[in-house]
Amino acid sequence: MAAATTVMASLRSSSSNFPLSLALLFSLFLISTTKVNTGAALNDAVLSVKYKYAGRERSLTTLKAHDDQRQLRMLAGVDLPLGGSGRPDAAGLYYARIGIGTPPKDYYVQVDTGSDIMWVNCIQCKDCPTRSSLGIDLTLYDIKDSSTGKLVGCDEEFCLEVNGGPLSGCTANVSCPYLQIYADGSSTAGYFVKDAVQYDRVSGDLETTSSNGSVIFGCGATQSDLALSGEEALDGILGFGKSNSSVISQLASSGRVKKMFAHCLDGTNGGGIFAIGHVVQPKVNVTPLVPNQPHYNVNMTAVQVGHTVLSLPNDLFEIGDRKGTIIDSGTTLAYLPEMVYEPLVNKIISQQPDLKVHTVHGEYTCFQYSESVDDAFPPVTFYFENSLSLKVYPREYLFPFEGMWCIGWQNSGMQSSDRKNLTLLGDLVLSNKLVLYDLENQAIGWTEYNCSSNIKVKDEKTGTVHLVGSHYISSACHLKSQWSMFFLMVIMLLHALVYCDATTKRDC
Ligand SMILES: *[C@@H]1O[C@H](CO)[C@@H](O)[C@H](O)[C@H]1NC(C)=O
Ligand SMILES: *[C@@H]1O[C@H](CO)[C@@H](O)[C@H](O)[C@H]1NC(C)=O
Ligand SMILES: *[C@@H]1O[C@H](CO)[C@@H](O)[C@H](O)[C@H]1NC(C)=O
Ligand SMILES: *[C@@H]1O[C@H](CO)[C@@H](O)[C@H](O)[C@H]1NC(C)=O
Ligand SMILES: *[C@@H]1O[C@H](CO)[C@@H](O)[C@H](O)[C@H]1NC(C)=O
Ligand SMILES: *[C@@H]1O[C@H](CO)[C@@H](O)[C@H](O)[C@H]1NC(C)=O
Repeated sequence: MAAATTVMASLRSSSSNFPLSLALLFSLFLISTTKVNTGAALNDAVLSVKYKYAGRERSLTTLKAHDDQRQLRMLAGVDLPLGGSGRPDAAGLYYARIGIGTPPKDYYVQVDTGSDIMWVNCIQCKDCPTRSSLGIDLTLYDIKDSSTGKLVGCDEEFCLEVNGGPLSGCTANVSCPYLQIYADGSSTAGYFVKDAVQYDRVSGDLETTSSNGSVIFGCGATQSDLALSGEEALDGILGFGKSNSSVISQLASSGRVKKMFAHCLDGTNGGGIFAIGHVVQPKVNVTPLVPNQPHYNVNMTAVQVGHTVLSLPNDLFEIGDRKGTIIDSGTTLAYLPEMVYEPLVNKIISQQPDLKVHTVHGEYTCFQYSESVDDAFPPVTFYFENSLSLKVYPREYLFPFEGMWCIGWQNSGMQSSDRKNLTLLGDLVLSNKLVLYDLENQAIGWTEYNCSSNIKVKDEKTGTVHLVGSHYISSACHLKSQWSMFFLMVIMLLHALVYCDATTKRDC
């Protein structure tokens, strides 16, 4: 969870502190040119087709059949097995299993819509974790073990794009470096590699077939103080951000998937559904994404507590060039500007006049209440452009702590300088909803949903609709462990980290 935040707080590798850090990186990752693939687009599928038809005459029908099949594969849905839980009392993170390399090995990566690249720890890494209490086996990526792994040279398009242009010292015979610095000063650095990433393609009702696409990702050769390396360590992070460098963008630009994905995070049982493709059931209403923002930002228009609509100024959610409300699966709690937070929390608390309110750690509003919170407190509903609403029930915005209930809303007005007044909705309020990210139409939407059930994903080519079910990939029962100080520590960490990112232009 703290990791979730660090991710969210990650700077883009093209950020302003780059030149300095690069000097350091180059000294670490000068790699001779012989292995660098200069990117003559080698397509796995085409190669295998050549092999298949070698020495045989190709009729137009077989060609057509191949094209159809290829397009079928290209536009089909993807089912990512999901584990973990977004609950702040537990690990507070969701992760997915993916295969990398040929032959493929399994890696467990945190799914994060707040960051833009994928990275996994590499064999060179001395300080990377090798064990995890999540009940999963960690693997260090070794390019030598993969027949499809290639280094990415500084002269490749991807490197130029991710760095926003050529970098001094980053020449054709040098491997393209990556660097992510997080808000707490922790970091991961290494170099980009390109390899086959294997995923489960949806091929029938609750059925998948293994498929793969070539993806460029960071190979982590050094890291420091990453929360992701703690006891609940994972292999890396799978960025599902909007930028061209994210895995979803890479798979979509090679025509393998639609630039659409959805998650349904099961707030009660952990795990859930994460699917790439066109979700047709449940149906969701969508709201447009605010253009030119680094994250998934939408315009909030109103806030309602129970039956009362809060009166808020029009420009409340505009702070400089930062616009709208950030939707981020990599963050746990929900952050609201003081002008929303104050009346919202007052209204909630005033429902029960006898409530004894405590402030825990200076910022968490907590109270004792022994009956059903859903009966005693009002739901909170956020409204967005295009009449999309998000209803959050008391059981979702309250979390138990030391025999009390604490309120999951956080006051972003308490933060300093340009982190102030940010609006961000994380896992806690996004749980138990099917959240759809439609990058083809630049929109995002959601609907209340049972994340332990199935959704339907449409195959664009054939029009066939298939069921995709929920997963829980880890047996780690400690995820349901009781509340402990661990939670507050994590929350505090999170709190300290969460704001740095929102602007993304800062060196936190
Ligand atoms: C990279 O190429 C430059 C110019 O050709 C050369 O000076 C340099 O030594 C090379 N570096 C490595 C690590 O091979
Ligand atoms: C990737 O897909 C190609 C073409 O379908 C296949 O030949 C190859 O074995 C796959 N590689 C992996 C690692 O799954
Ligand atoms: C991403 O790629 C698309 C298509 O290749 C291109 O039009 C767009 O400018 C790129 N965006 C960025 C931010 O590089
Ligand atoms: C969101 O709000 C801003 C500022 O009021 C406005 O310019 C924009 O058109 C709205 N909608 C979207 C989708 O950006
Ligand atoms: C934050 O909101 C307060 C009102 O609650 C306002 O006075 C202040 O100027 C805002 N700060 C920034 C940086 O926008
Ligand atoms: C959610 O779906 C699962 C699987 O279909 C079912 O067992 C469970 O009862 C459902 N939960 C609710 C609250 O409807």
